[in-house]
Amino acid sequence: MTIEILTVLPQLLESPFEHSIMKRAQDRGLLTIKIHQLRKWAINKHGQVDDYQYGGGAGMVIMCEPLANAIDELQQESKFDEIIFVTPDGKTFNQKEANTLSIKNRLLIICGHYKGIDQRIRDLYVTKEISIGDYVLSGGELAAAIIVDAVGRLIPGVLNDETSALTDSFQDNLLAPPVYSRPTLFRELSVPPELLTGDPKKVDQWRHEQAIQRTKERRPDILSKE
Ligand code: 6GU
Repeated sequence: MTIEILTVLPQLLESPFEHSIMKRAQDRGLLTIKIHQLRKWAINKHGQVDDYQYGGGAGMVIMCEPLANAIDELQQESKFDEIIFVTPDGKTFNQKEANTLSIKNRLLIICGHYKGIDQRIRDLYVTKEISIGDYVLSGGELAAAIIVDAVGRLIPGVLNDETSALTDSFQDNLLAPPVYSRPTLFRELSVPPELLTGDPKKVDQWRHEQAIQRTKERRPDILSKE
C-alpha cells in the first residue's frame, strides 16, 4: 500500500513513521509513505498556497490551484483509491474505518491548516473526510499520522504473532482485557490465578469475561454496536 500526504508542514511528519512497526512495514516493502510539500505547487515564487476568505473573517484558506495541481500531478501515475481530507468536521475515525482503509492500494491524505481548504476542492476531489475526535488540533498533520499508524499496522504481514491485531481493543467491539507480567506478586497485588493455571481454555474464558466487564464499565456505548 502507498499512502501519500500533502502538507505545508512535512517536518511534523518526519519521525512518526521512522520507528517500530511503521518502520518495519516500510522496510518490508508492505507500506510506502510519501510526504509532499504543498508549497511545491505554490501560485507564486513566494511559496503562497493560502489566501483570505471571501466574505471576510479571520484565518487563511488553502487555495484551489495548489491543491488541484498537486493532486492532478500525483494522479498522473495512477488514481488514488481515496482522497482523504482530515478535518474536525469530518466523520469520526474508528477501527472499522481503519479496517476499510487497510485494504486499499493507494491513498492521499490532505492536511488542512488555518481555516481549512477551499470548499471546491472538497466538492471536486475529496472522497472521504475524517476527524480523529471531538477536539480541535492546529493542523491536520497529527491526525494524518494517527490514521496512517492505525491503518498501516493492519496491512497483512505488518504485524507478527506477538503484535497481532486480533486481540486489539475494538476488534470485536470489546476493549482488551488487563495484562500481567512478572513478578506474580507486586506490592501485595497478585496476578489473577486464572492466568497461572496453564489451561488455555480457562485463560481465554477469563480474558473474555474481563473484556466484557471492562467494556461495560468504560465504554457501554460500543458494547451493543453491530
Ligand atoms: Cl483531522 N484536524 C484538525 N485540525 N483538528 C482535528 C481533527 C483533524 N480531528 C479532530 N480534531
